Order: sequence, then C-alpha cells, then structure tokens
Amino acid sequence: QAKVEVDLATIPEGKNVIIKWRGKPVFVRHRTADEIKEADDTDWAKLRDPQPDSARVKKPEWLIMVGVCTHLGCVPIGESGDFGGWFCPCHGSHYDISGRARKGPAPLNLEIPEYDFMDETNLVIG
Ligand code: FES
Repeated sequence: QAKVEVDLATIPEGKNVIIKWRGKPVFVRHRTADEIKEADDTDWAKLRDPQPDSARVKKPEWLIMVGVCTHLGCVPIGESGDFGGWFCPCHGSHYDISGRARKGPAPLNLEIPEYDFMDETNLVIG
C-alpha cells in the first residue's frame, strides 16, 4: 500500500526494524545518544555524497531510510561495517550511522523516504 504505519513504542533505543513499503525494505533505527553524536560529528563535507546528519532526519533519534544499497540494489545488513552502521555484502559498501556511503562502491547515501511523525509514537512512511 502507499502508506505504512509504524508503532515506534515497540522499537527500543539501539535497535533496528525493517518495514516493508512499496515492495522495498525500509530501515527504522532508534539511535542512541552516542550514535547521534557520532553522526553529527562526522566531517560530512568530505564525504562522496556530502550531507549533514541534520538533513537526513526529522528527529535525531529516528533514522528512517530505504534499505536498498545505492550500488546495485542489495539489502545492507544492520549493525555492521566499518562505520557502525550498515554493510552491503554484495560488493562491500559501508554506510555510517546516518546511512551515508563511506567506503566501497556505493555512490550515494541510503535514500530517505517520505515520512511523517503523527505523534510521539506513530510514524507514517509514504
Ligand atoms: Fe551493495 Fe554492490 S549492491 S555493494
């Protein structure tokens, strides 16, 4: 369907869930304070797809991304890779805790889908 609702109250801090949206996986991560700081402290202007973390989130504790590698479309694995984020096993792309491409062949950061927070605990993707 066009929109998917997610109950954020079921996702503890430091955990990922994968939601299916329009046939694609969407990653929802409840980031910890340390992860938010790391994402913020990154010298993003030097990255291959330069984006500050603030341009990738609406609320720093919730990182919401399309879970499709920007190289050739595999699904990256969470809580892995050299940058504390995601790792794509197909050809070895590493994404950081903001989903930004940091190493390997991926040319772009993981895509951010349309979404909105309805209230404190309800997210709507799409
Ligand atoms: Fe992810 Fe190639 S599809 S690294």
